[in-house]
Amino acid sequence: MYTDKVMENFRNPQNVGVVENANAKYTVGSPECGDIMEMSMRIEEDVIVDIKFRTFGCAAAIASSSMATQMLKGKTVDEAVKLKNTEVIDALGGLPPQKIHCSVLAEEAIRGAIEYYKNGRQE
Ligand code: FES
Repeated sequence: MYTDKVMENFRNPQNVGVVENANAKYTVGSPECGDIMEMSMRIEEDVIVDIKFRTFGCAAAIASSSMATQMLKGKTVDEAVKLKNTEVIDALGGLPPQKIHCSVLAEEAIRGAIEYYKNGRQE
């Protein structure tokens, strides 16, 4: 069901936790399954210098967040808001159709955190 890349990121997820002194953070819940994801970042001069996640979610959500955080470290906020869940899925070598929404959770958490950075709050 899952690719080797997904299993690798699920078994040994990167960037798990909460960034100390985060100035960007967002928590999002999935309407499909009720799972929750929290993203935190330290952004300096519009560059993501640190990024971490925590999730109460499935293997696909953990693998997607692990991959997305690796793809975004060192990137600018403008690059980060453009990251699409389909790019994360490609980097993972694919996800089963019923697990696509799990990668959307990561995309939404990233967008929300950047929004928080720009506006200073979560709605
Ligand atoms: Fe809920 Fe994957 S089933 S995030």
